[in-house]
Amino acid sequence: MIEKELIKRNLPSLFGGEENVSVKRWEEVFKPKWRDLLLKEEYGYFPPIIEPKIKAELNPETFSGKATWEEVTFTFERNGKSHSVKTNLIFPKRKTNLPFFIFLNFRPSVPDKYLPIDKIIDNGFGIFSVCYKDVTDDNDDFSSGLSALFASETRKDSEFGKIVIWAYMTMRMMDYLQTRPEVDKDKIGVIGHSRLGKTALVAGAYDERFSFVCANDSGCSGASLSRGRYEWSEKLTHVTKTFPFWFCRNYLKYADNEDKLPFDQHALLSLIAPRSVYVGGAIEDTWADNDNQFLCCYESSKVWKLYGKRGLVCSGGMPVECDAFTSGEVGFFLRSGKHALELTDWDEYIKAIKEKFN
Ligand code: GCU
Repeated sequence: MIEKELIKRNLPSLFGGEENVSVKRWEEVFKPKWRDLLLKEEYGYFPPIIEPKIKAELNPETFSGKATWEEVTFTFERNGKSHSVKTNLIFPKRKTNLPFFIFLNFRPSVPDKYLPIDKIIDNGFGIFSVCYKDVTDDNDDFSSGLSALFASETRKDSEFGKIVIWAYMTMRMMDYLQTRPEVDKDKIGVIGHSRLGKTALVAGAYDERFSFVCANDSGCSGASLSRGRYEWSEKLTHVTKTFPFWFCRNYLKYADNEDKLPFDQHALLSLIAPRSVYVGGAIEDTWADNDNQFLCCYESSKVWKLYGKRGLVCSGGMPVECDAFTSGEVGFFLRSGKHALELTDWDEYIKAIKEKFN
């Protein structure tokens, strides 16, 4: 049944049609090919790394005495322009070697309906959060925020879209976590919901220091295949019309023209191998196309298998409500309910990550 669905979609082979590909051949030939192609044709190339100035200040709030909260301000300067971003670093008090989430949120509030501090801290994780609009606005203005430091006067065809700028910020947050004794550097992941789930995937794919990626309801141009989408789900024509600025200009030519895409989203997931990626879906979120999220996980697992890993461990049929396949390095679950980052989503991710590090 799964194979039949995949045949219908006629996906580009991750290995250029070759069989028995070695890890060496994957890493030397195919992985660099997908890395470049996805940026060139979909998200746009990353801007150069610049080192921000950092200011960390203690916030007296301790979440009933169990956590330390620092407000960390990043100031970026380039070409006479400057932009500051405030982030929140919160972790169980007096602890070291903690696993950490870098979290892109829709709002700056802490806690927030998507940011359940108690749950995260009580499970022994630290969290480093940022509001994505504080990085750069969610619109076609590239002349303000962090985008302004790097944008060309006229956007080039393969120049970064906003997803890349948000992902860039998570990478700079990752740089900062490398300097903190509270953090276990081998246990840092990135999490985001919806457009920020797409962003988490890009961050995890292009920065190998992320040991896990949680992409919640990321859908079209995230963890969901672009080919063979159901008529009620979001297609490239929708996402590129409403949110063209999330991507590079080259991507627009594939709207209504998915068969011409030289890749599909399984290539993005495969760049995370052999690390872990967890894809969360909600049954009522038909816009995101959960079957296509599942098939994307399934197909990209071929790369985990090259490394002798399990990839997606599933039941063998297409997914149904309440399925949770999170024991492999590629995890997929389909909870009941609507498009949102809910407490039950955090539960699934935390459970899977704890098992991974056990
Ligand atoms: C829209 C968009 C999706 C996106 C979502 C979100 O629905 O079409 O692609 O994931 O917004 O970010 O909330």
